[in-house]
Amino acid sequence: IEPIDPVRYISNHSTGKMGYAIAAELASRGAQVTLISGQTALDVPDGVQRVDVLSAQNMFDAFIERFESADGAVMCAAVADYTPADPSPVKIKKSDDEMVIRLKRTPDIAATAGATKGDKLLVGFALETDNELENAVGKLHRKKFDFIVLNSLADPGAGFATDTNKITIIGKDGLQHPYPLEQKSDAARHIV
Ligand code: CTP
Repeated sequence: IEPIDPVRYISNHSTGKMGYAIAAELASRGAQVTLISGQTALDVPDGVQRVDVLSAQNMFDAFIERFESADGAVMCAAVADYTPADPSPVKIKKSDDEMVIRLKRTPDIAATAGATKGDKLLVGFALETDNELENAVGKLHRKKFDFIVLNSLADPGAGFATDTNKITIIGKDGLQHPYPLEQKSDAARHIV
């Protein structure tokens, strides 16, 4: 969530279901899990410690604080790539003119993690609408992920707010494993 003023914000359709399913799966297998989470109505899975954040910058700060002592990270959040450059401290009043909101880049959490990861395991996500494989492989190498999980909005049943997903797991060693449409809990199991 990226604030425009105290009333409005820029965001996207992500609900957090995939990330919460992965956190639950990891915890059920005995991992000590910290879930750095944007705003969502979902319940915290058993045994998981949740850290609430709003903006990309908040998430970056929370992540950096904890990454050093972690064995790895799954970068599942739909982080905003841009944020209003000058959010207004007071509610913006309308006028009859068009309105322009200038946006600036947010920090790329996954790329920062990739650059400092050493031998930690790093899993990224790619949500694509076109040129899916090519885009996902590009992100895998650019952000130095060990694996990337591709899901396509072109697949019915995959994407935002659904309880199902259709993923392809791509490894840095060239592994490419497509899975059928399945519950997000099953996708989480395959990812873990
Ligand atoms: N990501 C992140 N911090 C950001 C943006 C993205 O950590 N500011 C992470 C996502 O959680 C995901 C991966 O990077 O694991 C890919 O995100 P995506 O936005 O799809 O990739 P980009 O490289 O930003 O490419 P584009 O938005 O141009 O598709």
